[in-house]
Amino acid sequence: MIKTVEWTDEGVRMIDQRLLPTEEKYLMLRSCEEVADAIKQMVVRGAPAIGVSAAMGLALGTKQAVGTTVADLEDDFSYFCDLMSRTRPTAVNLFWAIERMRDRFRRAKAETDDTDAVKLALVDEARKIFEEDIASNRALGRFGGELLADNSTVLTHCNAGALATAGDYGTALGVIRGARDAGKRIAVIADETRPFLQGARLTAWELDKDEIPVTIITDNMAGHVMKQGKVDAVVVGADRIAANGDTANKIGTYMVAVLAREHGIPFYVAAPISTIDLSIPTGESIPIEERDAREVTHIREQRLAPEGVAVHNPAFDVTPNALIAAIITDKGVARPPYTTSLQSMFKE
Ligand code: MRU
Repeated sequence: MIKTVEWTDEGVRMIDQRLLPTEEKYLMLRSCEEVADAIKQMVVRGAPAIGVSAAMGLALGTKQAVGTTVADLEDDFSYFCDLMSRTRPTAVNLFWAIERMRDRFRRAKAETDDTDAVKLALVDEARKIFEEDIASNRALGRFGGELLADNSTVLTHCNAGALATAGDYGTALGVIRGARDAGKRIAVIADETRPFLQGARLTAWELDKDEIPVTIITDNMAGHVMKQGKVDAVVVGADRIAANGDTANKIGTYMVAVLAREHGIPFYVAAPISTIDLSIPTGESIPIEERDAREVTHIREQRLAPEGVAVHNPAFDVTPNALIAAIITDKGVARPPYTTSLQSMFKE
């Protein structure tokens, strides 16, 4: 099992995703600030993995706080929550995890004035978020696996696998693993996903490790392979799903969805319900992160573009709900109209 992020007595341990696949290096992060920085710098990335890491970072920072009263602890905890919320703006799992930790703090504070008990409650909540993420990916993998036919080829974009979650199954790759575990033979076409190359570096790495056949293409080859009849379904992850089903995911996802529609290929989104943001009606109001120009002008230390040239580097785009055949969640498969089907995923 790939261990993306882990709680340890020493701190938060995570695999440095910037170095994969050439180097498998684990970092031990010993403060909340270090975890926040790791999220910003994309040591860890992928919506659910960001949420899990943030929760662990908050638990770590608060555990190290030296205040003697719960009120002191709360000041530090609020500071850590603010710090964490400024790391990356698009993936709603980050804000969802911060809110869960805030809620746990509130409940612990109402129950006790022992700072150690509050610290323990936060560590316990972060661990729960970690375990629930793994369980929810298993669940959505089972639901989604049923949508894929035996012997099919699935195109995916970015990395929505074990590396983008707490570990193990992943979301889009969880659907592929779910189908594989149900006895189906599935092959994957992975878009390389410029500029950060999550597809070529991370999806290919983890599928290869798992012995799931994978072929990398550059992003501009997707239309060609679809036209040649080489793609039976598209499955992608999500960073934030609006109440109407509009879905923010890695830049280039929208282009793939348009191509899938043109070629009559079903386009599926796979995500746990922690990625659904019912507070925003449509994708119009999803904040899109603009990242450093250097990601576009360079590959690692190698410059590709002329010095000083203007660069636009939006990290995500929004796929309109009309292009999405189904949204596969841990509570079941939502179909259009999403405004009602997504809401029903939150009913017990
Ligand atoms: O910028 P990243 O690598 O954090 O973007 C990741 C994606 O867009 C993933 O597809 C998404 O978070 C789903 S991960 C299960």
